[in-house]
Amino acid sequence: MIKLTLDNIRTLNMTADILFKNQAKMQTKILKINPKKPQISKIKQAAKIIKSGNLVAFPTETVYGLGANALDSKSVKKIFIAKGRPSDNPLIIHISDIADLEILVDYIPNTAHELIDKFWPGPLTLVLKKSKLVPKITTGGINTVAIRMPENKIAQALIRESGVPIAAPSANISGRPSPTTSEHVSNDLDGKISMILDGGKTNIGIESTVIDLSRKTPLLLRPGGVTLEQLQYIIGKITIHPILQERKTKLISRSPGMKYRHYSPNAKIILIDGPNDKVQDKILRLLSQFKKQGKKVGIMTTVNTRYKSDMTVFLGNNLDVMAANLFKTFREFDAKKIDVILVQGISRKGLGLGIMNRVEKAAYKKIKI
Ligand code: TXA
Ligand code: MG
Repeated sequence: MIKLTLDNIRTLNMTADILFKNQAKMQTKILKINPKKPQISKIKQAAKIIKSGNLVAFPTETVYGLGANALDSKSVKKIFIAKGRPSDNPLIIHISDIADLEILVDYIPNTAHELIDKFWPGPLTLVLKKSKLVPKITTGGINTVAIRMPENKIAQALIRESGVPIAAPSANISGRPSPTTSEHVSNDLDGKISMILDGGKTNIGIESTVIDLSRKTPLLLRPGGVTLEQLQYIIGKITIHPILQERKTKLISRSPGMKYRHYSPNAKIILIDGPNDKVQDKILRLLSQFKKQGKKVGIMTTVNTRYKSDMTVFLGNNLDVMAANLFKTFREFDAKKIDVILVQGISRKGLGLGIMNRVEKAAYKKIKI
């Protein structure tokens, strides 16, 4: 038997990647399904694929996930291959029943119970010490595991019917914006996965919040659908990972996903933070500078100004709407072949922290005025 060290996993993945590239494209079946009342016959078809060790993309309340049996190394490996995901970036395991949590982790601290009572099912992922049942490949070789119970009815039914916990990263090619519609999934993964359950547009639009409870003081690893303020209200002190406070890419990261550039459209994003009027001036100056260079320029702004850009997206001031449309907007800029996107920064309060985290991680350059 091969011992699964990180290097081994890497080599296995690379080999599998080469094998995969030489394989014929598979047929990806897209199945429309009712998000309010998922048809059981369709759920059964998808569950059969999961049980046979293959991949199904499905909607959650945050973004679409790319699911496989979390307890089977061979199935999980297919996720890494389909996405082109680095093998040290661990996956989130999705469950539909609290009893599953007990078998996947070693120990459940009080803080976990408190957060589960309040936020599950929902957009909150807990990192805890893993049990022996969880294969190393699922956790990218580390001894903690990320778990969440999604609220979306299709996701819940799929997990229940499959009879196994489902490992699911966002269903995009690694590094691309997360998918909020089945079209986004199929643009990235058509021919690489067995099925997409199309349950329409996802509600929240950015991914779950990830919090590490395996240490003495809880550590926020990724802001998302549940806000930091909501978490602090329930469990008090939370350390915020330094990488979320400033862009220090050289820091040793606790969450392996942190060190990679993410969510990026093909265009280069320039994020501009500061007082409204100064940001507007800067956007105008950069716009004319890039236009002179013959670039196609896109703008995302919270001020409803008419710019002479190639595509301007008015973000509005409702954070829920902003989050819901963020990744879709990134992909629309790509469809218009925009070269540079000038983004006006917003306040990092509430859902704003998660939204700005996605923009920062996608950004090529950050300007603070
Ligand atoms: O909303 C979501 O969370 C979506 C839907 C599909 O559930 N999933 C998602 O998965 O965003 P993914 O793989 O794209 O992001 C998972 C994040 C990564 O940043 C990863 O590094 C982190 O969670 N993560 C997973 N397991 C971890 C662990 N044991 N310790 C620290 N970070 C972990
Ligand atoms: Mg992702």
